[in-house]
Amino acid sequence: MSRIERPKTEPSSHAAAEGRGTGWPLEPDRREMERILDTVRERVVQAIESLDAIPAFDFDGAESAAAEVRQDHPGKARPLEDVLDLLFDRLAPKSFNNPGPRFMAYIPGGGLFHSAVADLIAGTLNRYVTVWAAAPGLAQLESNVVRWFQGMVGYPESAGGFLSSGGSIANFSAVVTARSERLGEEIARGTVYVSDQTHHSVIKAARLAGIREEHVRAIGVDSGLRIRVDELEARIEEDRAHGLVPFLLVGNGGTTNTGAVDPLQELAAVATRHGLWLHVDAAYGGFFALTARGCERLRGLELADSITLDPHKGLFLPYGTGCLLAKDAGALRRAHSLDADYMPELQTDDDRVDFCSISPELSRSFRGLRIWLPVQLLGIEPFRQALDEKLDLADWAAAELSRIEALEIVAPPQLSTLAFRLRGDDPDGARQDARNRRLLELIHRERKVLLTPTRIGGRFVIRICILNFRTHREHVEDCVQAIRRAVADL
Ligand SMILES: Cc1ncc(COP(=O)(O)O)c(C=O)c1O
Repeated sequence: MSRIERPKTEPSSHAAAEGRGTGWPLEPDRREMERILDTVRERVVQAIESLDAIPAFDFDGAESAAAEVRQDHPGKARPLEDVLDLLFDRLAPKSFNNPGPRFMAYIPGGGLFHSAVADLIAGTLNRYVTVWAAAPGLAQLESNVVRWFQGMVGYPESAGGFLSSGGSIANFSAVVTARSERLGEEIARGTVYVSDQTHHSVIKAARLAGIREEHVRAIGVDSGLRIRVDELEARIEEDRAHGLVPFLLVGNGGTTNTGAVDPLQELAAVATRHGLWLHVDAAYGGFFALTARGCERLRGLELADSITLDPHKGLFLPYGTGCLLAKDAGALRRAHSLDADYMPELQTDDDRVDFCSISPELSRSFRGLRIWLPVQLLGIEPFRQALDEKLDLADWAAAELSRIEALEIVAPPQLSTLAFRLRGDDPDGARQDARNRRLLELIHRERKVLLTPTRIGGRFVIRICILNFRTHREHVEDCVQAIRRAVADL
């Protein structure tokens, strides 16, 4: 039996129950649409205004709230206000406050209000931008966004790209494109090179692309946590001598762990020498290329065959938008395009992009609007300034922490991430790790700030990642204060 029961005599929506609407509950009339928008508008503004004041995280009662809302069937229609109370007051507060300014854990982003509005418009228009002919003007806007990104990374006119749901899918398509260009159908001996700091989405991408897990080589890193080029090259040669087929090298444009940037120019030289596809995962760091310092630190990015960017990180969008760029748009097409009898006419002119021909998805939302709209309304300069500010804030935090005797900075900022820990001379590290774990608990005691740990060389360290556009000096000062107090209390 279906778990969704058919309504019999029950009114099928709350609006219908109150006698409002067109008589077709799925199609509210003007008054009803305005009522919904007005009610939601209040809640949205309140939610954004409260971000600075609410805790950086709050999970008290979160599990029981989740258990209470568990439903096996949709139930009866209920009033909008009730539903908004549930979402905004009961469920959302019991979470990481990751859009808030003191969330310096994982990789923040924030979530631009303008992009949320763009989502509403995109959903309302609901046009089919995946095929150029179905909505040429709107598809062109999305293409413009990709072209801006191409320009930012220094790619030529002949480059191409698409917006994905996130960095993981962008990395997946990069591996598939590299596989198609360098291996064709013969994938069994295909071998991939990453550093031991590479994000696990790349390893997952290789697995999904049919590359054997034992053929993904995690190369060691230097003291700056950047891939060791000598070890890389030796491994490629050794693998080739053993009959494997090295085909893909993945560099980091800012690792998740510490923001380390691999020596991209050297990687490009290795890739050329050995005939490998060079992909750079710049999901975290790529948008720093908008700043002069970021450009300098990401030197060589333009030499990559493909690049992952993640606008829901470095461009501060709400979750749901990544990007893959390829220097040769044709490579994306060769890896992804397929036609079918029922499809509308696809384009032959490179300037008219059918996103379905260069990416894994067919139907998809009009993602481009979440970037195009804010950039139209604000220009690109506020993004550049915000990213520059993040670089300054990370340097400032590192300088402040280095004044605390008990701490050592184990990874100074290469972009806007740093890692630190309590000094210690515990030979096996277990006691020191436990003290650092306790330190993190104390930092979190007041829930003012959220940081997350990771491991460097197998040892527990605490990261600070500053990437939310809402995070300013006062918030980083709060973070440093929380660390100072925690060190004093330990
Ligand atoms: C360097 C890097 N690559 C890839 C990803 C995966 O991106 P997403 O979470 O958007 O799928 C992340 C996520 O944090 C990342 O930091």
